[in-house]
Amino acid sequence: MPTTAGSGSEATQFTVITDSANDEKMLCPGLAFLPVAAVIDYELTLSMPPRLTADTGVDALTHAIEAYVSRKANPFSDSLALVAIGTIGRMLRRVYADGSDAEAREQMMLAATQAGIAFSNSSVALVHGMSRPIGAHFHVAHGLSNAMLFPAVTAFSVSAAEVRYADCARALGVATPGDTDATASNNLVVALRELCRDVQVPTPKVYGIDKAQWDELIPLMAEQALASGSPNNNPLVPTEAEIRDLYAQVYG
Ligand SMILES: [Fe+2]
Repeated sequence: MPTTAGSGSEATQFTVITDSANDEKMLCPGLAFLPVAAVIDYELTLSMPPRLTADTGVDALTHAIEAYVSRKANPFSDSLALVAIGTIGRMLRRVYADGSDAEAREQMMLAATQAGIAFSNSSVALVHGMSRPIGAHFHVAHGLSNAMLFPAVTAFSVSAAEVRYADCARALGVATPGDTDATASNNLVVALRELCRDVQVPTPKVYGIDKAQWDELIPLMAEQALASGSPNNNPLVPTEAEIRDLYAQVYG
């Protein structure tokens, strides 16, 4: 019974366990983690405060977009991902502004589950791969660490799958069928920046993470991001150096 509209874990074959001895979040895949049944009731999400609403909602959007651009994407996951992207695009700001908006809460809950089914049948990618080490080392909530990375990682990745990112932009409502794929995929990057601004996503710096500590952990975080396997599903598979650059880029 999910109580946030975010992780989609009620419908995925993944869970995440943090090794508190070495601050590493490990992705555990397998059908044993897939619930046999799920009770999905949006009323359980009505009491979420705005920050949690935004963070979990951005997580769901990340699931949908990463599922769609993943190297493991397929027609089944595509259909669910695109529908979820559209719904979250229309509803996330609404539910952030007014948590008692029952219709928006219900739509977000449905979209989070659809996005979960989508990535469970495809995969997540570089945003999630880089997000887990931030969460583990600096105790940043999962959706928020995704959000800190989402625009920059998307900007890094678009050139490798322009058509796919353009589809995401059109599903999100930030490009028209008449726009070229280059324009549409660029619009997606801009739209993600605007969404993060509108739901007040802080940079790691504004969040209060010490610059020296961040810089010191970049090599280890890059190594852990790669070890998770998720970056290999990214349309543009990054080198370790490129991951280090992205961490440096998003700090401030
Ligand atoms: Fe996630």
